[in-house]
Amino acid sequence: MKTRVAVLISGAGSNMAALIDAGQAPDSGYEVALVLSNVEGAGGLAIAAAKGVATVAIPHKPFGKDREAHERVVDEALRAAGVEVVALAGYMRVLTPWLVGGWRERMLNIHPSLLPLYPGLDTHARAIAAGDAEAGCTVHLVTEGVDEGPILGQARVPIVQGDTPEALAERVKTAEHTLYPHVLSAFCKALGRD
Ligand code: GRF
Repeated sequence: MKTRVAVLISGAGSNMAALIDAGQAPDSGYEVALVLSNVEGAGGLAIAAAKGVATVAIPHKPFGKDREAHERVVDEALRAAGVEVVALAGYMRVLTPWLVGGWRERMLNIHPSLLPLYPGLDTHARAIAAGDAEAGCTVHLVTEGVDEGPILGQARVPIVQGDTPEALAERVKTAEHTLYPHVLSAFCKALGRD
């Protein structure tokens, strides 16, 4: 039995699309059962629906500053869909300890840098400005600290002469689309053996 995964997005959802596609392979350890967004009309929702995956939008705006109230509705949707593992993929919300605690060791994130280098935003510009020879992406478990959880996998790409943050972002994203499904599948298969 494949592990039921929810992918949480806020935007384009290119990682989400890669996760759905890879999860359909017979030997994958997971299947994407739900795509959830905090942004109504997020581009990724239409892509997921076209791939036959259930989608739900739960906008955070009506909840104002009460992050946990929003998360309680999100959590309800995840539980109702029988989700076992959550994969954050460009979900632009800082999570409260309440949601993180409820999905401890069951929630993954992908970050576009070689953590622990460059947590937070503008990772590509920062790597170029530092004169780094390589950049990359990291899949990690989600803990209370932003971009801080135990690392499950990384992929590296070169930074080339005259690189722009946009060009580097594209190179890193291509690596993300391979890394995330690979790590998520292995993670879910290991869960099954517990
Ligand atoms: C990716 O670069 C990911 O590493 C970061 O947010 C971006 C999401 O892009 N967390 P997409 O929506 O998957 O295209």
